[in-house]
Amino acid sequence: MRLVPIFCLAAALTFGSAAWADADAGRSTYAARGCIGCHGAGGVSVVSTYPSLKGRSAEFIRQNLTEFRSGARKSAVMNAMAAGLKDADIQNLADYIASLK
Ligand code: HEC
Repeated sequence: MRLVPIFCLAAALTFGSAAWADADAGRSTYAARGCIGCHGAGGVSVVSTYPSLKGRSAEFIRQNLTEFRSGARKSAVMNAMAAGLKDADIQNLADYIASLK
């Protein structure tokens, strides 16, 4: 896709050169980890108890997943969901979700 290089550049500027977040990998992780089951296809939830993620910034997603993982933000569901995420998973998910327009 033609936008990918621009997107990667933006991601590199956002996250710094140490980590190249990958929205395509994030899309796969979003499905494979079951996020899609609660937060919906394209980040639009159809269940009111599950927040929609579309429209959230990469920084918001990254910070909240990190806090769910550490337990700094409490949610029985999300603490369990985030427990197994690696830093790269979180960055890729953040990049994917931020790309949802
Ligand atoms: C079983 C349902 C379920 C699954 C699966 C799930 N979530 Fe959640 N998620 C929730 C609920 C419920 C909340 C609200 C938690 C709260 O505020 O107490 C939430 C909150 C969040 C938030 C914070 C949103 C906000 O507006 O504050 C993010 C980000 C998030 N989830 C990402 C993910 C990702 C990424 C995955 C996959 C790794 C995932 N979730 C899997 C139910 C789920």
